[in-house]
Amino acid sequence: MENIKYFKIRVATLGPNRPITFDLYIQLRGKHVLYLRAGEQIKAEKIAHLDRADVFYVPEDQRQAYKSFIFQRLNDEDTDTQTKAAVLRESSLTLAEEIFEQPDVNRALNESKELIGQFIDFMEQEPEGMAFLVGLSSHDFYTYNHSLDVSIYSLGLGAVVGYSGEELGELGRGALFHDIGKRNVDVEIICKKGPLDDVEWAQMQKHPQFGLKILTDYNCSEAMRACCFEHHESFLGNGYPQQLSGPEIHPMARIVAITDTYDALTTKRSYNQPMSPTDALEFMKTKLAGKYDPDLLDAMYSVLFKMKAS
Ligand SMILES: [Fe+2]
Ligand SMILES: [Fe+2]
Repeated sequence: MENIKYFKIRVATLGPNRPITFDLYIQLRGKHVLYLRAGEQIKAEKIAHLDRADVFYVPEDQRQAYKSFIFQRLNDEDTDTQTKAAVLRESSLTLAEEIFEQPDVNRALNESKELIGQFIDFMEQEPEGMAFLVGLSSHDFYTYNHSLDVSIYSLGLGAVVGYSGEELGELGRGALFHDIGKRNVDVEIICKKGPLDDVEWAQMQKHPQFGLKILTDYNCSEAMRACCFEHHESFLGNGYPQQLSGPEIHPMARIVAITDTYDALTTKRSYNQPMSPTDALEFMKTKLAGKYDPDLLDAMYSVLFKMKAS
């Protein structure tokens, strides 16, 4: 039996020919095996053979060393913005996964502060960075991937419409936890491939209420609760669960409504092919006309337009 705890990291966070400052393990038949020692480095040719989604493991007691390593990469003057965006997103993905697997909601909420804070710092330091982050969205659908991407898009859209500092942080965290209520939906329903039947759908549609209860129990801000409880409301008044319309919907929830749908449309699921960014926005503007705050939907174009220009 192994007593040491490990956490997952993704290959793309390491970078070629750069000495690591922690020990790196791989998993073989359920056991962790030392792959590289602190001070050694992975050669560029080796990294090229690895998938960016491949994972390594680092002993939990070396977490601080890994964090400092990432911090240095994000603040390295010789590293370009695109690489920094990739390092930030890849290191955040495993963190988001941990947050979503964390049974202790208090810890999850606390850890999210650091995660969202890193994105906001990055946006401040690298004004062009958001364009790259937006372009790095993954195409697989897992709750933590989806939640992280919705959070990144919401930070981008929020910044474009004038949010900053604490408020932007609340928006990012609200977006990260918008689907937290899905913890209380049967896992068979969450993982079902293909459309849900009426009974399953009714349970799924309760996730905003379930989420509101969780976030209220943990004293989250009104903004975070609104992102969670109101992200399936529709500007026209025919959403759920409260059938709020237009300005009755919290402005941050209106943002999450857009970024949530946008991410779902551009992500591959078992039963549909992903749409391109332009097609997804066109679809939202025409086929789903009236569901979203029109000004925010227009602003979403500029978040994504920057992506295309880069
Ligand atoms: Fe949702
Ligand atoms: Fe969602």
